[in-house]
Amino acid sequence: MSHANPTPNQPPPVDAVIDWPADTLPAMTTILALRRRWFSHDYSALRAEYEAATSNGRAPATQDEAEPLVQSLPSAPAFQWMHRHIQDRTWRLCERIVERRADEIAAAMQPTDDDLGTLEGTEDFQYPAYYTFDYHRQDGGIWRSDAGAAIYLLGARMIHVGRNSDFQLHDQLVDELELDSEPGRIVDLGCGFGKTTFSLKKRWPDAEVHGVDLAEPCLRLGRKMASARGLDIHWRQADMERLPDADRSTDLAVITMVLHEMPESAISNVLSEAYRILRPGGRLVILENRLIGDPFRDTLLKWYSQLIDEPYWEAWRHLDIVAMCGAAGFETAQQSRWYLAGTDGAAAEADPRRWCTPWGLTQATKGDLQ
Ligand SMILES: C[S@@+](CC[C@H](N)C(=O)[O-])C[C@H]1O[C@@H](n2cnc3c(N)ncnc32)[C@H](O)[C@@H]1O
Repeated sequence: MSHANPTPNQPPPVDAVIDWPADTLPAMTTILALRRRWFSHDYSALRAEYEAATSNGRAPATQDEAEPLVQSLPSAPAFQWMHRHIQDRTWRLCERIVERRADEIAAAMQPTDDDLGTLEGTEDFQYPAYYTFDYHRQDGGIWRSDAGAAIYLLGARMIHVGRNSDFQLHDQLVDELELDSEPGRIVDLGCGFGKTTFSLKKRWPDAEVHGVDLAEPCLRLGRKMASARGLDIHWRQADMERLPDADRSTDLAVITMVLHEMPESAISNVLSEAYRILRPGGRLVILENRLIGDPFRDTLLKWYSQLIDEPYWEAWRHLDIVAMCGAAGFETAQQSRWYLAGTDGAAAEADPRRWCTPWGLTQATKGDLQ
């Protein structure tokens, strides 16, 4: 999908400033090579040890049974260490780049009269207690400063490097949605700097699109990036657990990669809020990680989340989100497996000798009479 930018081949200014200077490309390439080695070579070595240890035909049936065995494998400590090391190296590199360009980035993020859409912040905003923690081991997080938002953007681009500098995953998710009618009002909850929000506005340019997040620096960055893409979006600092939106005001609410950062009680509140603001027949869409159902790889995914400081990820994967949507009032809810186009995600998931981090797509609909 192309930008609404009048010069599509020209990089939008704020994105161009928050990018890799040429002399940092070798460092970036090294980190990416380490990452590839980790999920191919290192993963295969660990898997081979696991298969040898279970060759007596008594493979653990559950994740709880598998974990002590996996932990006892000779390569397990190095496998764990490497994952955390790669994460930390990634942030240090992104921090160095943002520090070097601090003035340019601050200037590029300054609001200007020609910015599109609106931005509503709140002075002395009260953050929920679970939030003021440095998720993903990003020192200082994404909500304290503009630099934090810029570091997060660089890190997010690096994770999806090569395929997602323009957020292909989010475009695909949104482009594949099948709704009964054109949505007039759309809310992206936990929008960050707007990856899904941009996709929503690009697919439905006539809709009123809102991005909601706790992190004001990300909203400011999102507005600048949206403006550079010609996207007129409303950005608002708010807690998804207590939305300012009116009852039955919204046709579509989307939540991508957010709920795994919340405790269960907060997730219940978010689902109730989404239900409240949706009109009868409105749709809630959630993209998140999920369990694989393979005790060995689910154990590694548990470590994966713990090692990069995701305190609620593992609990999230074991929640029954479909039942929770029902408890929040939704008439129908279902979850399906979701894969990024152009990858062999389904084949990787089906093959225990391959590493995978699987996506689950949950869609819930508010009843017409509700
Ligand atoms: C991993 S990011 C995902 C951002 C974006 N949805 C995406 O797909 O890239 C999680 C986002 O959720 C936001 N968030 C977490 N808890 C929130 C809450 N209670 N209310 C609003 N936003 C929240 C964080 O500030 C962060 O921007």
